[in-house]
Amino acid sequence: MPIILAVPKEIRSGEQRVALVPAVAAKLADQGATVRIEQGAGAGIRTPDSAYKGTEQVAGSQALFDSANVILKVQPPTLDEIDLIPEGSVLIGFLAPHNHPEEIKRLQSRNVTAFAVELIPRISRAQSMDALSSQAAVAGYKSVLMGANLLGRFFPMLTTAAGTIRPAKVLVIGAGVAGLQAIATAKRLGAQVEGYDVRSAAKEQVESLGAKFVALDVKADAAGGYARELTDDEKQKQQALLAEHIARADVVICTAAIPGRAAPRIVTEDMVKGMKSGAVVVDLAAETGGNCALTQPGETITVGDVVVHGPLNVPSSMAEHASEMYAKNLQNFLGLILKDGAITLDWNDEILSGSVVTHGGEIKHEPTRQMIEGDKP
Ligand code: NAI
Repeated sequence: MPIILAVPKEIRSGEQRVALVPAVAAKLADQGATVRIEQGAGAGIRTPDSAYKGTEQVAGSQALFDSANVILKVQPPTLDEIDLIPEGSVLIGFLAPHNHPEEIKRLQSRNVTAFAVELIPRISRAQSMDALSSQAAVAGYKSVLMGANLLGRFFPMLTTAAGTIRPAKVLVIGAGVAGLQAIATAKRLGAQVEGYDVRSAAKEQVESLGAKFVALDVKADAAGGYARELTDDEKQKQQALLAEHIARADVVICTAAIPGRAAPRIVTEDMVKGMKSGAVVVDLAAETGGNCALTQPGETITVGDVVVHGPLNVPSSMAEHASEMYAKNLQNFLGLILKDGAITLDWNDEILSGSVVTHGGEIKHEPTRQMIEGDKP
């Protein structure tokens, strides 16, 4: 059976990214796959259909999905999209299964083999497929530009005829992929940067970027290089120390996350009220509830003289490079399943078995299965 890859135009509100960029689509076509792109799919990255050389451009999702066997997406598919996806085909994209139980049930009932890129294990071999990391890097970079834009002050120190400007102080809370990129970006803009995290490896990573690590005697390492939730006692210690650093900062960038949980609440209302006038909080964790107690997801609010910005889907706001990196991630993932012109699913490969959500009419991802089907084995 020939391999037909289909790339729909993303239809969820505000999404500008596309799953394949022309260079990656052409590579996949060179490898023998038929690559179908829905007309206008690249509009959000200002890429005309004509740039997708070597691919078929198709109008409308009905024709796009017809007899396709691999569907490549960014956002979780809607129920309407799923109804058009051919039964038994492979779907790869962000699925956010905890937020989309109905969609997962529909994928299950349509016998789709659905891989969630966010579940790809964080092992060395999978680094080139790690869409969480590629998109977090985009978000981390952009968060600093957002902060700089909302701040009525310079980031760098300036010595001018009109006086000397002191550099801005930036505090980055959470030094994972997004946080480290935020630190690097704020440093490049000339700010004085501090970073804080609860993982023990973070100190060295923050310092290697030339930033100061805010040291607190709480270590919260968990499996897979992630952080665990803090105890109440630890949270109190954390807040006491951070309050001082937050009060001195011009911009606080929040990126702390715990996989599969609501974002940890770190910046309290009192801390925001204790900030300098004109200071800015950019809360990248807004998507999962926010690290700051006052964050309104998708909104920019002013509390006293402090701006609290809670952007959603930040990677989409830099859709060109976000799509380029994401497409590369997908190309590398496809390398695991497209072999000799056929689809081969090797369930002994932990990357495939770790990221599959539905296959063969079953929900394979255990936390999702439990959420949807309860405790039955
Ligand atoms: P994430 O998005 O889940 O979390 C962001 C950061 O928030 C993490 O560094 C976490 O430690 C921190 N955090 C959680 N609770 C906090 C709290 N209460 N206070 C302060 N900080 C808190 O994590 P991300 O960025 O996806 O990755 C985290 C780590 O995973 C990386 O730094 C790395 O060590 C590892 N990783 C490994 C990869 C690989 O080997 N392929 C790829 C990517 C990440």
